Amino acid sequence: MSGDAAKILNVPIAGKSYDIVIGSGLLLSGLERVSALIRKGEKTALISDENVWQRYGYAVETGLNALGIATEAIVLPPGEKTKDIGHLSLVYDRMAAAGITRKGCVIALGGGVVGDLSGFAAATYMRGVDFIQIPTTLLAQVDSSVGGKTAVDIAAGKNLVGAFYQPRLVLIDPDVLTSLPPREFAAGMAEVIKYGAIASPSLFALLEQTTVPSMTEIICSCCAIKSDIVAEDEFDNGHRAILNFGHTFGHAIEKRYGFSKYNHGEAVAAGMRIAAHIGEKIGMTAPGTAARLGSLLDRYGLTATESPVGLIEHIKSDKKGEAGGVNLVLLKALGAVVCVYKRFEELEVLLDD
Ligand code: GLY
Repeated sequence: MSGDAAKILNVPIAGKSYDIVIGSGLLLSGLERVSALIRKGEKTALISDENVWQRYGYAVETGLNALGIATEAIVLPPGEKTKDIGHLSLVYDRMAAAGITRKGCVIALGGGVVGDLSGFAAATYMRGVDFIQIPTTLLAQVDSSVGGKTAVDIAAGKNLVGAFYQPRLVLIDPDVLTSLPPREFAAGMAEVIKYGAIASPSLFALLEQTTVPSMTEIICSCCAIKSDIVAEDEFDNGHRAILNFGHTFGHAIEKRYGFSKYNHGEAVAAGMRIAAHIGEKIGMTAPGTAARLGSLLDRYGLTATESPVGLIEHIKSDKKGEAGGVNLVLLKALGAVVCVYKRFEELEVLLDD
Protein backbone atom coordinates (compact mmCIF):
# COMPACT_ATOMS: atom_id res chain seq x y z
CA MET A 1 0.00 0.00 0.00
CA SER A 2 2.90 2.38 0.55
CA GLY A 3 4.00 4.65 -2.25
CA ASP A 4 0.48 6.00 -2.96
CA ALA A 5 0.48 9.79 -3.33
CA ALA A 6 -1.80 11.64 -0.88
CA LYS A 7 -5.16 12.62 -2.33
CA ILE A 8 -7.27 15.52 -1.09
CA LEU A 9 -11.05 15.61 -1.36
CA ASN A 10 -13.14 18.52 -0.16
CA VAL A 11 -16.53 18.05 1.49
CA PRO A 12 -18.32 21.15 0.23
CA ILE A 13 -20.75 21.93 3.04
CA ALA A 14 -21.58 25.64 3.09
CA GLY A 15 -19.71 27.48 5.85
CA LYS A 16 -18.02 24.34 7.17
CA SER A 17 -16.32 22.67 4.24
CA TYR A 18 -13.37 20.46 5.11
CA ASP A 19 -10.72 18.29 3.54
CA ILE A 20 -10.37 14.54 3.64
CA VAL A 21 -6.70 13.76 3.06
CA ILE A 22 -5.91 10.17 2.11
CA GLY A 23 -2.50 8.61 1.67
CA SER A 24 0.11 6.16 2.84
CA GLY A 25 2.08 7.30 5.90
CA LEU A 26 -0.21 10.23 6.74
CA LEU A 27 -0.70 9.06 10.32
CA LEU A 28 2.57 10.82 11.08
CA SER A 29 3.42 12.86 7.98
CA GLY A 30 -0.07 14.41 8.03
CA LEU A 31 0.20 15.79 11.56
CA GLU A 32 1.37 19.18 10.28
CA ARG A 33 -2.03 19.57 8.63
CA VAL A 34 -3.58 18.79 12.00
CA SER A 35 -1.41 21.23 13.89
CA ALA A 36 -2.17 23.99 11.35
CA LEU A 37 -5.81 23.84 12.48
CA ILE A 38 -5.13 23.95 16.21
CA ARG A 39 -4.93 27.32 17.93
CA LYS A 40 -1.51 27.90 19.44
CA GLY A 41 -1.37 27.61 23.21
CA GLU A 42 -4.63 25.64 23.37
CA LYS A 43 -4.68 22.11 24.73
CA THR A 44 -6.06 19.28 22.58
CA ALA A 45 -7.89 16.14 23.71
CA LEU A 46 -6.47 13.12 21.87
CA ILE A 47 -9.11 10.40 22.31
CA SER A 48 -8.46 6.77 21.46
CA ASP A 49 -9.06 3.22 22.68
CA GLU A 50 -6.58 0.92 24.39
CA ASN A 51 -5.90 -1.23 21.28
CA VAL A 52 -5.32 1.66 18.91
CA TRP A 53 -3.37 3.57 21.55
CA GLN A 54 -0.99 0.67 22.08
CA ARG A 55 -0.18 0.57 18.37
CA TYR A 56 -0.28 4.18 17.24
CA GLY A 57 -1.10 6.46 20.15
CA TYR A 58 2.37 7.19 21.45
CA ALA A 59 3.71 8.02 17.95
CA VAL A 60 0.81 10.36 17.20
CA GLU A 61 1.00 12.08 20.58
CA THR A 62 4.79 12.50 20.32
CA GLY A 63 4.39 13.83 16.76
CA LEU A 64 1.83 16.40 17.88
CA ASN A 65 3.91 17.44 20.89
CA ALA A 66 6.94 17.91 18.61
CA LEU A 67 4.82 20.33 16.58
CA GLY A 68 4.07 22.33 19.73
CA ILE A 69 0.60 20.89 20.40
CA ALA A 70 -0.06 20.10 24.08
CA THR A 71 -2.24 17.00 24.35
CA GLU A 72 -4.44 15.36 26.94
CA ALA A 73 -4.55 11.66 26.01
CA ILE A 74 -7.89 10.06 26.89
CA VAL A 75 -7.71 6.32 26.30
CA LEU A 76 -10.98 4.40 26.56
CA PRO A 77 -11.75 0.68 26.70
CA PRO A 78 -12.32 -0.82 23.22
CA GLY A 79 -15.78 -1.92 22.06
CA GLU A 80 -19.31 -0.65 21.50
CA LYS A 81 -20.06 -0.64 25.27
CA THR A 82 -17.75 2.36 25.58
CA LYS A 83 -20.08 4.46 23.41
CA ASP A 84 -22.30 5.42 26.33
CA ILE A 85 -23.19 8.40 28.48
CA GLY A 86 -20.89 7.17 31.29
CA HIS A 87 -17.76 7.26 29.13
CA LEU A 88 -18.89 10.51 27.51
CA SER A 89 -19.19 12.06 30.93
CA LEU A 90 -15.72 10.80 31.82
CA VAL A 91 -14.36 12.44 28.66
CA TYR A 92 -15.98 15.79 29.59
CA ASP A 93 -14.46 15.57 33.08
CA ARG A 94 -10.99 14.78 31.74
CA MET A 95 -11.21 17.66 29.24
CA ALA A 96 -12.30 20.09 31.93
CA ALA A 97 -9.62 18.92 34.37
CA ALA A 98 -7.00 19.35 31.63
CA GLY A 99 -8.09 22.95 31.13
CA ILE A 100 -9.35 22.55 27.56
CA THR A 101 -11.22 25.71 26.59
CA ARG A 102 -13.78 26.67 23.95
CA LYS A 103 -10.87 27.33 21.61
CA GLY A 104 -9.52 23.82 22.12
CA CYS A 105 -9.79 20.81 19.89
CA VAL A 106 -10.72 17.12 20.04
CA ILE A 107 -8.89 14.59 17.90
CA ALA A 108 -10.44 11.12 17.47
CA LEU A 109 -7.81 8.44 16.81
CA GLY A 110 -9.63 5.15 16.31
CA GLY A 111 -12.61 3.39 14.77
CA GLY A 112 -16.30 4.22 14.73
CA VAL A 113 -16.84 4.01 18.49
CA VAL A 114 -14.05 6.47 19.25
CA GLY A 115 -15.06 8.72 16.34
CA ASP A 116 -18.76 8.85 17.22
CA LEU A 117 -18.22 9.44 20.95
CA SER A 118 -15.39 11.96 20.47
CA GLY A 119 -17.41 13.82 17.85
CA PHE A 120 -20.36 14.14 20.20
CA ALA A 121 -18.02 15.28 23.00
CA ALA A 122 -16.60 17.90 20.60
CA ALA A 123 -20.08 19.00 19.53
CA THR A 124 -21.24 19.56 23.10
CA TYR A 125 -18.26 20.39 25.31
CA MET A 126 -18.49 24.14 26.00
CA ARG A 127 -21.16 24.24 23.24
CA GLY A 128 -18.72 23.01 20.62
CA VAL A 129 -14.98 22.82 20.05
CA ASP A 130 -13.01 21.95 16.92
CA PHE A 131 -12.95 18.30 15.91
CA ILE A 132 -10.50 16.29 13.79
CA GLN A 133 -10.91 12.65 12.74
CA ILE A 134 -8.00 10.22 12.29
CA PRO A 135 -9.92 6.99 11.55
CA THR A 136 -8.05 3.68 11.93
CA THR A 137 -10.57 1.08 10.72
CA LEU A 138 -11.76 0.66 7.15
CA LEU A 139 -15.37 1.15 8.25
CA ALA A 140 -14.49 4.45 9.89
CA GLN A 141 -12.29 5.56 6.97
CA VAL A 142 -14.98 5.06 4.33
CA ASP A 143 -18.09 5.81 6.37
CA SER A 144 -18.34 7.04 9.94
CA SER A 145 -15.51 9.61 9.92
CA VAL A 146 -17.06 11.48 6.98
CA GLY A 147 -20.34 13.36 7.14
CA GLY A 148 -20.61 14.57 10.71
CA LYS A 149 -22.85 11.98 12.35
CA THR A 150 -21.83 11.76 16.01
CA ALA A 151 -23.62 9.87 18.76
CA VAL A 152 -23.66 7.71 21.85
CA ASP A 153 -25.92 4.75 22.62
CA ILE A 154 -28.54 4.68 25.38
CA ALA A 155 -30.52 1.77 26.85
CA ALA A 156 -33.33 2.30 24.32
CA GLY A 157 -31.01 1.85 21.33
CA LYS A 158 -27.86 2.65 19.41
CA ASN A 159 -27.00 6.21 18.34
CA LEU A 160 -30.14 7.65 19.94
CA VAL A 161 -28.34 10.68 21.40
CA GLY A 162 -26.15 12.63 19.05
CA ALA A 163 -25.59 15.60 16.78
CA PHE A 164 -24.61 16.46 13.25
CA TYR A 165 -21.19 18.00 13.77
CA GLN A 166 -18.71 18.20 10.92
CA PRO A 167 -14.99 17.70 11.56
CA ARG A 168 -12.46 20.30 10.40
CA LEU A 169 -10.26 17.62 8.83
CA VAL A 170 -10.28 13.87 8.20
CA LEU A 171 -6.82 12.34 7.94
CA ILE A 172 -6.79 8.82 6.48
CA ASP A 173 -3.73 6.57 6.38
CA PRO A 174 -4.55 3.26 4.62
CA ASP A 175 -1.34 1.72 6.00
CA VAL A 176 -2.97 1.31 9.42
CA LEU A 177 -5.39 -1.20 7.90
CA THR A 178 -2.64 -3.83 7.74
CA SER A 179 -3.06 -4.32 11.50
CA LEU A 180 -6.85 -4.84 11.31
CA PRO A 181 -8.16 -8.33 12.15
CA PRO A 182 -9.46 -9.96 8.91
CA ARG A 183 -13.09 -9.91 10.09
CA GLU A 184 -12.93 -6.21 10.76
CA PHE A 185 -11.35 -5.53 7.38
CA ALA A 186 -14.07 -7.56 5.68
CA ALA A 187 -16.71 -5.59 7.59
CA GLY A 188 -15.29 -2.39 6.12
CA MET A 189 -15.32 -3.99 2.66
CA ALA A 190 -19.09 -4.48 3.04
CA GLU A 191 -19.48 -0.68 3.12
CA VAL A 192 -17.00 -0.32 0.23
CA ILE A 193 -19.02 -2.76 -1.88
CA LYS A 194 -22.17 -0.87 -0.87
CA TYR A 195 -20.77 2.36 -2.38
CA GLY A 196 -20.06 0.55 -5.65
CA ALA A 197 -23.53 -0.97 -5.64
CA ILE A 198 -25.42 2.27 -4.96
CA ALA A 199 -23.40 4.82 -6.88
CA SER A 200 -20.42 3.62 -8.88
CA PRO A 201 -20.39 0.84 -11.49
CA SER A 202 -16.68 1.62 -12.01
CA LEU A 203 -15.83 1.08 -8.32
CA PHE A 204 -17.85 -2.13 -8.39
CA ALA A 205 -15.96 -3.32 -11.49
CA LEU A 206 -12.62 -2.34 -9.92
CA LEU A 207 -13.42 -4.51 -6.90
CA GLU A 208 -14.28 -7.40 -9.22
CA GLN A 209 -10.86 -7.32 -10.88
CA THR A 210 -8.45 -10.11 -10.04
CA THR A 211 -5.65 -7.69 -9.13
CA VAL A 212 -6.10 -6.18 -5.67
CA PRO A 213 -6.79 -2.46 -6.13
CA SER A 214 -4.90 0.20 -4.15
CA MET A 215 -6.61 0.93 -0.83
CA THR A 216 -5.95 4.64 -1.35
CA GLU A 217 -7.88 4.48 -4.62
CA ILE A 218 -10.74 2.52 -3.03
CA ILE A 219 -11.02 4.79 0.01
CA CYS A 220 -10.87 7.86 -2.21
CA SER A 221 -13.74 6.61 -4.36
CA CYS A 222 -15.87 5.83 -1.30
CA CYS A 223 -15.16 9.17 0.40
CA ALA A 224 -15.90 11.04 -2.85
CA ILE A 225 -19.28 9.33 -3.11
CA LYS A 226 -20.10 9.95 0.55
CA SER A 227 -18.93 13.54 0.35
CA ASP A 228 -21.26 14.28 -2.62
CA ILE A 229 -24.23 12.69 -0.84
CA VAL A 230 -23.55 14.46 2.49
CA ALA A 231 -23.04 17.83 0.80
CA GLU A 232 -26.47 17.46 -0.81
CA ASP A 233 -28.25 16.29 2.35
CA GLU A 234 -26.17 17.08 5.44
CA PHE A 235 -29.00 16.50 7.91
CA ASP A 236 -30.29 13.22 6.50
CA ASN A 237 -33.63 14.50 5.29
CA GLY A 238 -33.67 12.74 1.93
CA HIS A 239 -30.93 11.63 -0.45
CA ARG A 240 -28.54 10.56 2.34
CA ALA A 241 -30.88 7.61 2.96
CA ILE A 242 -29.37 5.81 -0.03
CA LEU A 243 -26.34 5.15 2.19
CA ASN A 244 -28.64 2.80 4.07
CA PHE A 245 -28.77 0.24 1.27
CA GLY A 246 -28.80 -3.16 3.01
CA HIS A 247 -29.07 -1.54 6.45
CA THR A 248 -32.81 -2.07 7.12
CA PHE A 249 -32.32 -5.81 6.67
CA GLY A 250 -28.84 -5.68 8.21
CA HIS A 251 -30.09 -4.07 11.43
CA ALA A 252 -32.91 -6.64 11.60
CA ILE A 253 -30.33 -9.44 11.24
CA GLU A 254 -28.22 -7.92 14.02
CA LYS A 255 -31.34 -7.81 16.20
CA ARG A 256 -32.28 -11.40 15.32
CA TYR A 257 -29.10 -12.52 17.11
CA GLY A 258 -29.07 -9.87 19.85
CA PHE A 259 -26.02 -8.27 18.19
CA SER A 260 -23.92 -11.35 19.00
CA LYS A 261 -23.45 -13.36 15.79
CA TYR A 262 -22.37 -10.78 13.22
CA ASN A 263 -20.57 -7.47 13.32
CA HIS A 264 -22.30 -4.53 11.64
CA GLY A 265 -20.55 -4.94 8.27
CA GLU A 266 -21.27 -8.66 8.07
CA ALA A 267 -24.96 -8.04 8.85
CA VAL A 268 -25.14 -5.26 6.24
CA ALA A 269 -23.57 -7.61 3.68
CA ALA A 270 -26.25 -10.24 4.38
CA GLY A 271 -28.84 -7.43 4.29
CA MET A 272 -27.64 -6.24 0.87
CA ARG A 273 -28.12 -9.76 -0.49
CA ILE A 274 -31.73 -9.74 0.74
CA ALA A 275 -32.35 -6.23 -0.65
CA ALA A 276 -31.03 -7.23 -4.09
CA HIS A 277 -33.10 -10.41 -4.05
CA ILE A 278 -36.30 -8.55 -3.04
CA GLY A 279 -35.60 -5.91 -5.71
CA GLU A 280 -35.38 -8.58 -8.39
CA LYS A 281 -38.49 -10.29 -7.06
CA ILE A 282 -40.62 -7.15 -7.46
CA GLY A 283 -39.07 -6.22 -10.80
CA MET A 284 -37.27 -3.11 -9.55
CA THR A 285 -33.77 -4.53 -9.83
CA ALA A 286 -32.20 -5.76 -13.06
CA PRO A 287 -32.07 -9.59 -13.17
CA GLY A 288 -28.62 -10.96 -12.33
CA THR A 289 -27.75 -8.08 -9.98
CA ALA A 290 -28.16 -10.17 -6.82
CA ALA A 291 -25.89 -12.90 -8.18
CA ARG A 292 -23.15 -10.42 -9.12
CA LEU A 293 -23.39 -8.65 -5.78
CA GLY A 294 -23.33 -12.01 -3.98
CA SER A 295 -20.16 -13.10 -5.84
CA LEU A 296 -18.34 -9.92 -4.92
CA LEU A 297 -19.36 -10.24 -1.26
CA ASP A 298 -18.14 -13.86 -1.27
CA ARG A 299 -14.84 -12.74 -2.73
CA TYR A 300 -14.18 -10.44 0.21
CA GLY A 301 -15.09 -13.09 2.79
CA LEU A 302 -18.62 -11.81 3.41
CA THR A 303 -20.19 -15.18 2.81
CA ALA A 304 -23.02 -15.18 5.38
CA THR A 305 -26.53 -15.53 4.03
CA GLU A 306 -29.61 -15.11 6.20
CA SER A 307 -33.15 -16.28 5.64
CA PRO A 308 -35.54 -13.36 5.12
CA VAL A 309 -38.32 -15.41 6.75
CA GLY A 310 -39.35 -13.89 10.08
CA LEU A 311 -37.19 -10.81 9.63
CA ILE A 312 -40.25 -8.57 9.56
CA GLU A 313 -40.64 -8.72 13.36
CA HIS A 314 -37.14 -7.32 13.84
CA ILE A 315 -37.69 -4.68 11.14
CA LYS A 316 -40.86 -3.54 12.90
CA SER A 317 -39.13 -3.30 16.27
CA ASP A 318 -36.20 -1.43 14.68
CA LYS A 319 -38.53 1.06 12.96
CA LYS A 320 -40.88 1.64 15.89
CA GLY A 321 -41.14 5.34 15.09
CA GLU A 322 -42.40 4.73 11.57
CA ALA A 323 -46.12 4.18 11.29
CA GLY A 324 -47.07 1.24 9.15
CA GLY A 325 -44.14 0.79 6.81
CA VAL A 326 -40.62 1.44 5.74
CA ASN A 327 -38.69 3.11 2.93
CA LEU A 328 -36.54 0.50 1.28
CA VAL A 329 -33.42 1.40 -0.66
CA LEU A 330 -33.24 -1.00 -3.60
CA LEU A 331 -30.92 -1.25 -6.58
CA LYS A 332 -32.13 -0.46 -10.09
CA ALA A 333 -28.90 -1.99 -11.31
CA LEU A 334 -25.34 -1.97 -10.02
CA GLY A 335 -24.49 1.69 -9.42
CA ALA A 336 -28.05 3.04 -9.32
CA VAL A 337 -30.70 3.03 -6.58
CA VAL A 338 -34.40 3.53 -6.18
CA CYS A 339 -36.34 4.12 -2.94
CA VAL A 340 -39.59 2.22 -2.50
CA TYR A 341 -42.10 2.54 0.34
CA LYS A 342 -43.53 -0.76 1.54
CA ARG A 343 -46.19 -1.26 4.16
CA PHE A 344 -45.12 -3.81 6.77
CA GLU A 345 -47.81 -6.28 5.60
CA GLU A 346 -46.58 -6.09 2.00
CA LEU A 347 -42.98 -6.47 3.07
CA GLU A 348 -43.83 -9.44 5.27
CA VAL A 349 -45.33 -11.25 2.26
CA LEU A 350 -42.24 -10.48 0.18
CA LEU A 351 -39.87 -11.68 2.87
CA ASP A 352 -41.76 -14.79 3.98
CA ASP A 353 -43.00 -15.97 0.61
N1 GLY B 1 -23.57 6.05 7.85
C1 GLY B 1 -24.58 6.66 7.07
C2 GLY B 1 -24.54 8.16 7.10
O1 GLY B 1 -23.53 8.74 7.46
O2 GLY B 1 -25.51 8.78 6.75
